[in-house]
Amino acid sequence: MAQYDVIVIGSGPGGYVAAIRCAQLGLKTACVEGRETLGGTCLNVGCIPSKALLHASHQLHEAEHNFAKMGLKGKSPSVDWKQMLTYKNETIEVNTKGIEFLFKKNKIDWLKGWGSIPEAGKVKVGDEVHDAKNIIIASGSEVSPVPGADVTVDEKTVVSSTGALELPKIPKSMIVIGAGVIGLELGSVYSRLGTDVQVIEYLDAITPGMDGEVQKAFQKLLKKQGLKFTMGAAVQSVKASGNKATVTYKLRKDDSEQTAEADIVLVATGRRPYTDGLGLNALGIEMTQRGQIKTDAEWQTSVKGIYAIGDCIDGPMLAHKAEDEGMAAAEVIAGKHGHVNYGVIPAVIYTHPEVASVGQTEEQLKEEGRAYKTGKFSFMGNGRAKANFAADGFVKILADKETDRILGAHIIGPMAGDLIHEICVAMEFGAAAEDLALTCHAHPTYSEAVREAALACGDGPIHM
Ligand code: NAI
Repeated sequence: MAQYDVIVIGSGPGGYVAAIRCAQLGLKTACVEGRETLGGTCLNVGCIPSKALLHASHQLHEAEHNFAKMGLKGKSPSVDWKQMLTYKNETIEVNTKGIEFLFKKNKIDWLKGWGSIPEAGKVKVGDEVHDAKNIIIASGSEVSPVPGADVTVDEKTVVSSTGALELPKIPKSMIVIGAGVIGLELGSVYSRLGTDVQVIEYLDAITPGMDGEVQKAFQKLLKKQGLKFTMGAAVQSVKASGNKATVTYKLRKDDSEQTAEADIVLVATGRRPYTDGLGLNALGIEMTQRGQIKTDAEWQTSVKGIYAIGDCIDGPMLAHKAEDEGMAAAEVIAGKHGHVNYGVIPAVIYTHPEVASVGQTEEQLKEEGRAYKTGKFSFMGNGRAKANFAADGFVKILADKETDRILGAHIIGPMAGDLIHEICVAMEFGAAAEDLALTCHAHPTYSEAVREAALACGDGPIHM
């Protein structure tokens, strides 16, 4: 039995970052992880593997659609699915091994196994009980069942995102339930690989919570790429038989019941906090009605010395939000001041084009009754984007009408997930749109579109 200043439960982006920061701050730290490899959902079955498949399938798309236009002639590459999965698995390995290296470098003990908390100050892993002055729960999330529907995920014909990253072959047809981030990222992958993809979504717009104008433009571009959408449809059941699955759904507009069939059904209707087996009930840790662990402003639960961060607490289920909370909780435990600015957490969808946002949407500002102005610039006016066949989309900046302070930004277009960060930094500094507009941006870069959108909040963009 060892004694630690901090034991972190879970080694996803929230947990491993918390452990590293604790160690950097001089705390004796261990991290409990039951998987064979470190990195949690994100590195093993989420963000990282899906990005590998998105990257590979995008290269194929480029070869098929744009190479000839650039004078690159010849047969398009054919898909070796087995090799693509190997590439994906190697990408996972190099990343998870990287965390293992960082643990060793920072002298963090990896306690292998599934952890529980028998009492405050103790963490049980296997038969061993370890003492910990502080515990950080970073146990993440799991796929949530389709609300009110009869759906069993078998990870063969009816898959979650985990199964969708390991299909034995590229399916001819796929139904995606839910037009959220997972459904559209993985739907895009298979659509580019030749699968006939139909997305069935309960709401009338894709990607709930996103700026309305971006939602519309995004759906239009995805349709152009071949994805089919059935909107306003509540899935009732999925029945697998043989190598097919049948989805029954009700159209909200007329209550009519419809069915659709595909080789694979991907269930992407959301995730829920995962806290099974930790013993939270017996500890008396307060939970929210949505099954999240309740925390105070310093990520401490209702039991002193036990903290929680990431997907298992309130807020967007995003790796980088968990990372920030992990660092902040470590600072608090070390007696410093930990802080997360929840108003400036970017969200990115890694389709092509990418979609990225930060801060408030136009809909939220209207609802608040806030006086705002909009600066918008299309990538059609961006030289680099036109040269790269990447001129679909736009940058939209929302700023306070009086003070010009940036309130939100929404980008659909090339490298949107990277471009958003200059706006995040500007927002952290309380910048006005004019501050971005007066900052010199290198030419020719996609980032000029951000500057032009900022100029559009003032006297107008140059190239439009
Ligand atoms: P989501 O919450 O983003 O989207 C789920 C969608 O399913 C919603 O549009 C909802 O209206 C729809 N839906 C629910 N029940 C339905 C039914 N019975 N019939 C038809 N449609 C139904 O959930 P998703 O995509 O599964 O992602 C889970 C979490 O993982 C999210 O919090 C997301 O932010 C996170 N994530 C983030 C990524 C990123 O940052 N790039 C990548 C992957 C996941």
